[in-house]
Amino acid sequence: MLTGSKVGLRARHEDDIPVLRTELYDDVVNSSRAEGRPWRPITPGSEDSRLVVDDKEQGRVPFSVVELDGGTLVGTATLWGIDDHNRSAHIGLALLPSSRGKGYGTDAVAVLCHYGFVVRGLQRLQIETLSDNAAMLRSAERNGFVREGVLRSSAWVMGEFLDEVLLGLLVQDWKPDSKS
Ligand SMILES: CC(C)(COP(=O)(O)OP(=O)(O)OC[C@H]1O[C@@H](n2cnc3c(N)ncnc32)[C@H](O)[C@@H]1OP(=O)(O)O)[C@@H](O)C(=O)NCCC(=O)NCCS
Repeated sequence: MLTGSKVGLRARHEDDIPVLRTELYDDVVNSSRAEGRPWRPITPGSEDSRLVVDDKEQGRVPFSVVELDGGTLVGTATLWGIDDHNRSAHIGLALLPSSRGKGYGTDAVAVLCHYGFVVRGLQRLQIETLSDNAAMLRSAERNGFVREGVLRSSAWVMGEFLDEVLLGLLVQDWKPDSKS
């Protein structure tokens, strides 16, 4: 397990799956905001890639996020689009509603940076999020990500086009322990 100051990132366990399905992916609005594809329900027991991890998949590493204190499941964190030639990857994060606003998102980004830069030897990490997602923007910026641009009307979300913000962090600018 990879550990931060508040959360740990570990492998997906079988009993995480019904919790994630019910509390995260069955929520149409949140799923539509967090994913770049249309919402559709996940059939219980199906091998949907949002829940069931394929350890052989090279370009995507999904983690379950747990509280360090007690091990309760609080969400998912993913390093995706891993490009070993350009040494870059993207970060994705989704916490259960009851676990938001407690600093877990900021800490999970820090742990994903450690995984990307130290464990995987990447040079650049990237986050795309809706321009009104204050908590994600702040979680990224607290870890040193800088806004590199706005993707105008790039996301179709529940009946309207919304802007996304593109944030990036280079390994040489990364300060592992200081969240400013
Ligand atoms: C986005 C998300 C991962 C952020 O994690 P979080 O644990 O809620 O965020 P934190 O508690 O670490 O807060 C980070 C900062 O945002 C601020 N913040 C938190 N929730 C906020 C909100 N609803 N509105 C405005 N600011 C907020 C916090 O005060 C904190 O700022 P500070 O560091 O200046 O104190 C989480 O809210 C989430 O899973 N949301 C739904 C899914 C999603 O949007 N995923 C991202 C898709 S790209």
